[in-house]
Amino acid sequence: MKRIGILTAGGDTPALNATIHGAVVRANQLKVEMVGLIKGFNCLFNPRVPHVHLNPLFQEIPELDPTKGGTLIGSSRDYVDPENKKDLDVIELRLSKLGIEGLICIGGDGTLNGLQPIAERLPAVLAPKTIDNDLGLNYPSEPDEWVRVNDAAAKRGYRYKQVSATETFDLDHIVNYATPGYATAVCVSANGVERIRTTAESHRRIAIIEVMGRHSGYLALGTAYGQPDIILIPEQPLDLEHLVQRVKHIYDLQKNVVIVCGEGIVDEQGRELGAETKSTDPSGNVVLSGAAEALRNKLVQMIGDRYFQLYRRGESAKEAIFTRKVGHTQRGGRPILFDRFYAGLLGARAVDLLLEGRNNTISVLQYNSEKGFHVEGYDANRFRDRWGLIHARKLHPALYDTKLMKPSRLGIDYLLPIFTGAIGNDDVEHLRSTLFDPGNLAQPYHSINTDVHKRIRYLETEAA
Ligand code: F6P
Repeated sequence: MKRIGILTAGGDTPALNATIHGAVVRANQLKVEMVGLIKGFNCLFNPRVPHVHLNPLFQEIPELDPTKGGTLIGSSRDYVDPENKKDLDVIELRLSKLGIEGLICIGGDGTLNGLQPIAERLPAVLAPKTIDNDLGLNYPSEPDEWVRVNDAAAKRGYRYKQVSATETFDLDHIVNYATPGYATAVCVSANGVERIRTTAESHRRIAIIEVMGRHSGYLALGTAYGQPDIILIPEQPLDLEHLVQRVKHIYDLQKNVVIVCGEGIVDEQGRELGAETKSTDPSGNVVLSGAAEALRNKLVQMIGDRYFQLYRRGESAKEAIFTRKVGHTQRGGRPILFDRFYAGLLGARAVDLLLEGRNNTISVLQYNSEKGFHVEGYDANRFRDRWGLIHARKLHPALYDTKLMKPSRLGIDYLLPIFTGAIGNDDVEHLRSTLFDPGNLAQPYHSINTDVHKRIRYLETEAA
């Protein structure tokens, strides 16, 4: 294989450039050309196929900086429809015209679904990414637990449901222990929790902080490092009575409470609190927004004004309970050491997988107590259920203590290998030396897109 294409799909993460960098460095060693496809799968639907040569003369281009968040080749939420043979024919032709013999897609569960039909046309592998940490398996047989249940309200008359876990959960058996982007997102969220705490403390308030993660609670779980009092995860339906009791207990003691909620939390009936409008993004995912606000309304109602007036800690529940979203700051900026290092290894492994003749394979980050972290290749089909679908990984119940609403002992054991030493000295030094650089005031922001644009080439002739 002499020429490989690489693309980044789905929501960005801080570690995408690090993965691309790892892949390009490996390609340089093997004297393989790397072509970056601009804006994910969107590029393949464009007759001009905008692309950039990432390693002319087997040297990575200077714009490829593994310490910079986002992706220099751009991303989009476009996916390939496996049913659309015409589109697939055109895509195959375009890639072959570019001389691309193998494809690396950097993405999450949506990208892995989109990779399958392409892998039937040319060798394609996935290097994982997602701040949600939901691309993986809690144990290898997890996809077999998904069943279809009839649901008249669903588009096709059924929906997918994971039946209760029967497997013994063991941290050493997790497939893809952590995804690049997760550690940095947790770092930002935990930091946000720490900062909001002092306001809650000073003003005797209850703060509800919403973090991303879609329907998976891994990101919320990691914010435990910021020491919130309560963590609510999407996998555990809200028990409002228990929550209010716990909030009051903590508030009585310390005059402030910090609650972290995952954006996908659900009520007792399993309805998403934050997705009342049910709008969807281009890949069909429900846009989750407003979980914290919906939870606040419930707490305001249940706790009531009198509770705060009694202790002279506020005029009303509305005044005392406030919400903040960590938002897209979780997804951006410089990746911390853990992400950079393993993203690079996973990118490099993806190149090796293609050169070893593997197809429809994922490079995964494995952990076990004896070997520590290491990367491997894993057959993508083993991520799929019996109908060929990839499901986002949910936080395993054993990692969460439902009574305390915090990580369980095993949850703590899960987090430790990722986060102990996850921040490098250079990460700290970077903040110290760059944020208040006087040049930041005088110079406009220089976007990487400006430089990469000058390198973009197009497929001029289009027969299809
Ligand atoms: O999947 C990553 C993620 O950041 C989710 O946590 C979040 O729900 C979603 O993407 C937000 O997407 P967008 O940036 O398109 O609003």
